[in-house]
Amino acid sequence: MQVADACKRFRTTPFLLLLAALLLASCGRQAIDYEQVSEEEKLIIRFSHVVGEDTPKGQAARRFAALMKERTGGRVEVQVFANGSLYSDYEELKALQEGYIQMIAPSLSKLSELVPEVEAFDLPFLYSSLDEYHRALDGEAGRRLAGMIERKGLVPLAYWDNAFKQLTSSLGPIRQPSDMKGMTVRIMPSEVLSKQFTMLGAKPVEMSFNDVYLALEKGQLDGQENTISNIYTKRFHLVQDHLTISNHGYLGYLVLMNRQFYDRLPQEIRQVLVETIREVTIWERQVADQINKEQLGYIKACDCINITELTSSDRVRWQQVFKPLYKSELTRWDPVFVKALGLSAIEENLHP
Ligand code: LMR
Repeated sequence: MQVADACKRFRTTPFLLLLAALLLASCGRQAIDYEQVSEEEKLIIRFSHVVGEDTPKGQAARRFAALMKERTGGRVEVQVFANGSLYSDYEELKALQEGYIQMIAPSLSKLSELVPEVEAFDLPFLYSSLDEYHRALDGEAGRRLAGMIERKGLVPLAYWDNAFKQLTSSLGPIRQPSDMKGMTVRIMPSEVLSKQFTMLGAKPVEMSFNDVYLALEKGQLDGQENTISNIYTKRFHLVQDHLTISNHGYLGYLVLMNRQFYDRLPQEIRQVLVETIREVTIWERQVADQINKEQLGYIKACDCINITELTSSDRVRWQQVFKPLYKSELTRWDPVFVKALGLSAIEENLHP
């Protein structure tokens, strides 16, 4: 949906009154004029995201809001809109670029149209631990990626974690790659993810995050891949019969700010913002792991889904199937960036 369409929708749909007021105030204009914000006025940062409050991103966004309020004496107000209540995952990037909102933290996959290299982090079994993902994202590969995003006119602020992704199904337990054959599976928009499931004989379907629950419930999808916190908070485990702890892929976020807004922030506010984001990022990565572990415990305790855990020899079989994916994909991206992903991982995958 275009931003203009969103404006129309908010005129006719009973929605949160405050939201409608905020949005309608901007409907007459095509972009928000930050010159109107004087030094004395409150600075409003609208931070839109699509996941639940009780997720790593949901909690970190709220913590960031609370710290910014405290550290700027209330001058900066970060308004967090969770669950896609303001914009869906397919709308939020455009809304950010046009200045209707000031912050988002999309999954890396959702930036693939802008910078295809983000899809490297969709490669199944790229690294085996979160520490290795952090090393890549905090190192040369992450810096290069951020540079590419920056050249597209956005301000990359931090990489946040969710966790490793797991598989769910309504058809049968998934242990072998061949168990995915014929399944209709929801994916985020990413060529790597599409090829990943096509290689398994499944049918990948791109779908907005907030439409997945209904599609699973109605049987329009047979399965999906996501982290435990997204599965638990969106109740996918209640409309699926089988969960496989596969840890086959990584779901991480890039926190982004509108460039024009960022550049016009007073220097002292910008400094507080950058320091606060840095601090929240360290915190977020710790709680992300805890939240996912805790919510896996809740899923196990509810006894409402059959759980399969891949053994290390199962994982080797899946890794073998995906080898050709590495060969085709790694040649698609900037070679300097690919090298920065870590030679040993790459060589191992290219020359088994
Ligand atoms: C998804 O679409 O599955 C995720 O990107 C949602 C999110 O933001 O974690």
